[in-house]
Amino acid sequence: MNKKTLKDIDVEGKRVLVRVDLNVPQDENGAITDDNRITAALPTINYLREHGARTILVSHLGRPKGVTPKYTLAHVAAHLSRLIDQDVPLIPDCIGPEVKSAVDAMTNGDILLLENVRFHPEEEKNDPEFAAQLASLAELYVNDAFGTAHRAHASTEGVAKLIPGVAGFLMEMELDYLGSALDIPKRPFVAILGGAKVKDKIGVIQALLTKVDTLIIGGGMAYTFLKAQGLEIGKSLLDEANLDFCRDVLATAGDKLQLPVDVVITSGNPFDIGEAACETRTVKVNDIPSDWEGADIGPETISKFSAIIANSATVVWNGPMGIFEFSKFAEGTRAVAEALSLSSAITIVGGGDSAAAVQQLGYADKMTHISTGGGASLEFLEGKPLPGVVALQNK
Ligand code: 3PG
Repeated sequence: MNKKTLKDIDVEGKRVLVRVDLNVPQDENGAITDDNRITAALPTINYLREHGARTILVSHLGRPKGVTPKYTLAHVAAHLSRLIDQDVPLIPDCIGPEVKSAVDAMTNGDILLLENVRFHPEEEKNDPEFAAQLASLAELYVNDAFGTAHRAHASTEGVAKLIPGVAGFLMEMELDYLGSALDIPKRPFVAILGGAKVKDKIGVIQALLTKVDTLIIGGGMAYTFLKAQGLEIGKSLLDEANLDFCRDVLATAGDKLQLPVDVVITSGNPFDIGEAACETRTVKVNDIPSDWEGADIGPETISKFSAIIANSATVVWNGPMGIFEFSKFAEGTRAVAEALSLSSAITIVGGGDSAAAVQQLGYADKMTHISTGGGASLEFLEGKPLPGVVALQNK
């Protein structure tokens, strides 16, 4: 990585504004249901406190429109305090006099968390005045929020123009894993894409086809490719507007592109009729009845994809193979996770649903790297510059 990191600066006694991505899922009582993004930020937080910095954490949570109590970072502050066994007070705003005096009262090794930065609409607008107020809190800026690095917001990009900005350890690790997989992959290099919509993955399909040896496509988006091959897909997900794109990919990618050969179909969508009411069958892809819909990859496809994974040296995976939220349709996603866990390849799981699936299915500790970024990892794989990274100081 050509960006400066925490190791390149002296933080002792300094006020350091650290952008973290503590956007974690919570249940209706505010209990955190997956704290991976918090634990992933700990190496940076611990380094700063051990090196005598005064650490001012700033994060968003959700997509609030103005101040919304549901999106307070209070539960996150309490959770973080427990994890590091040190009080991390939540300051009720992220700019203004109350924040200034809390920061002025800090001593070396202290850590505080500012309230949800998106309570101010100026954050997402990357408002220069708002960025200046954030920047005025500190002498140094660290961006450790890989998950939000694809956003050019005040706390991810604007502040780095005003005070010296470097990458935190999570940011560095994410960029190193994803960057080496793309730029100097051990071959065979296989990418597995799933998820619902072709539309969301057009850029990444185009970019990966120029780099990988095999591109596996499963999940909801595979049905638009099957339709583009002229097959009946029944009521399966169809991204009609991108059929021509799929036809072009099919015409040019040849054997590089691998699609399901059989699928598990359902008589109705489990989100609409409930899982129990779903009748299921396994059929070849050219045998989908007009009133059924595809919900998972079938056993033959699992064998085919698993064999490709077993022969690979680098695998990047983004997007589930079926409606894995329901056990009747989770087998394809589970089997791909298992194939990755058994392989000796470098295995990198993109954030979002595939990361959640790997955690939920119990394979997380078998992966080389699970990204904390959903949208960010996709944009990185697409080859797009991430504004939150671009803004940091070069080495
Ligand atoms: C994420 O969950 O992908 C990041 O926290 C970014 O959130 P956003 O999509 O609301 O910007």
